[in-house]
Amino acid sequence: MSGRVRGQVSAVAPAKVNLCLGVGPVRADGFHPLATIYQAVGLQDRVTVGAADEVSVTVRGDARSAVHEVPTDGSNLAVQAALVLAKHHGLDRGVRIVIEKGIPVAGGMAGGSADAAATLVACDRLWRLGTSREKLLSLAAELGSDVPFALVGGTALGSGRGELVTPLTTRGRYWWVVLESAVGLSTPAVYREFDALHTGSALVEPQISSGVVSALRDDDVVALGAALTNELQPAALRLRPELEGVLELGRTEGVHGAIVSGSGPSCLFLCADRADAVRVGEGLRSRGLGPVSVAPGPVAGARVVAAREG
Ligand code: C5P
Repeated sequence: MSGRVRGQVSAVAPAKVNLCLGVGPVRADGFHPLATIYQAVGLQDRVTVGAADEVSVTVRGDARSAVHEVPTDGSNLAVQAALVLAKHHGLDRGVRIVIEKGIPVAGGMAGGSADAAATLVACDRLWRLGTSREKLLSLAAELGSDVPFALVGGTALGSGRGELVTPLTTRGRYWWVVLESAVGLSTPAVYREFDALHTGSALVEPQISSGVVSALRDDDVVALGAALTNELQPAALRLRPELEGVLELGRTEGVHGAIVSGSGPSCLFLCADRADAVRVGEGLRSRGLGPVSVAPGPVAGARVVAAREG
């Protein structure tokens, strides 16, 4: 029941890219150990929560986004986030959740995780719970491997299955072109393909790329572009071979780096600066391959942007 809670709260949370993504052999719990450097980029979802008797979720997006692929039942990560937070505080609360998608759906950019992170901070404010940052992070880790980073934002090391996040201080601002695919890729399917590709080979524990670390330290975009790595990329390319040509097209536009984002299929192109990213974005858009956006990174993690008392 809604009790005396009124009003509504909106929060935003960013998409992520992985500047390097090292993947180790599958663990007993079915997850893979990761060594990654996350960066939050300026594509964001906005989640608005309001008091209600029942839990409900509505997903909106512009015509280009595959909002119909987002579940609106209990498997929706934002719904799970609201329930996990309420349960932690011993509450039985309904909530109306409206998600406005700005992050590609099933695109390898942690859009569902962003919704969960935004819902955690929005419900925490709506219900005036004042949950500690530490507790929010541990609830986030229960929800999914990428959810803690969506809370933290910026640039950060990720370890464990991705849920252990250590913020990094970096000086640079980077400009990314994001090319979406009309059809998403399932993260578990990409990990299964990764396992199939490595059957019989001895996988070692994943490592952070020293090239990415030194490029960030020196704020050297050329070195960063050359050092970008994604050990899930071969698996994503096996499932979507046409992405190879998409990456190549980006390279012909003169970008510093071209890579599949996380488990894909979104493709990322690292550009020299904003003007260069706009140029590359227009070049790719003119080929009609899919929706193209330009996004800076790093940006902040999930945060409340509007709160209205009832
Ligand atoms: O943690 P999350 O719910 O986002 O993970 C979705 C799926 O992706 C997992 O069920 C698993 O199949 C795969 N995964 C993995 N190793 C990770 C993260 C995700 O195998 N480190």
